[in-house]
Amino acid sequence: MFITVEGSEGAGKSTNLEFIQERLQAAGKELVMTREPGGTELGEEIRELLLGHKHDGMSDDCELLLMFAARAEHLNRVIKPALNKGKWVVCDRFTDATYAYQGGGRGIPMQRIEALENWVQGELRPDLTLFLDVPVDIGMKRAGERSAPDRFERQQIDFFERVRTCYLERARSDAVRYRIIDAGQSLEDVQRDIAKVLTKVLE
Ligand code: TMP
Repeated sequence: MFITVEGSEGAGKSTNLEFIQERLQAAGKELVMTREPGGTELGEEIRELLLGHKHDGMSDDCELLLMFAARAEHLNRVIKPALNKGKWVVCDRFTDATYAYQGGGRGIPMQRIEALENWVQGELRPDLTLFLDVPVDIGMKRAGERSAPDRFERQQIDFFERVRTCYLERARSDAVRYRIIDAGQSLEDVQRDIAKVLTKVLE
């Protein structure tokens, strides 16, 4: 199983990833927990370029291509080898984030992203994607209470509205792969909903 977890800013992704990890490990699954951009030594260096402020004026195309450069490395060195060994992979963000942020947020045509997706991933797509959804104003307030904002967190509210709209459109268009989790609820309720999805998957 290749599971990806997506969320708007401040949706509680980190806490819930820990919860997912505990649940799957308790069920005896051999797990690889990883993240994007990143997940390899080179990928983590690319992450620093993408999220840090050294290259604040980076062009949108450069940003898109760096996301896929990191992804190519991640797929070849971590994700595919793990899946080939029968392990389960849980990835904190994946290509849906590229559609949402570089496509929806930055306005890069979706066909360009699709072309890169086909090139870099071939046929590989996640088996299950959990989208932790929270209204932008609530999410931004939560995220704002954390550390100094990275290059994406500095964007304005309309950017995040476009990101969220794109995630929701993609999720609603494929009810087999995506599950939308209402992350505006209490943590207890969010985790109850995630647990339900995981129980089904484990069956
Ligand atoms: P996060 O892992 O802490 O959520 O930070 C990663 C940031 O990178 C987040 O703001 C979303 C952004 N991102 C993209 O813009 N495109 C992508 O393809 C990925 C994987 C992440």
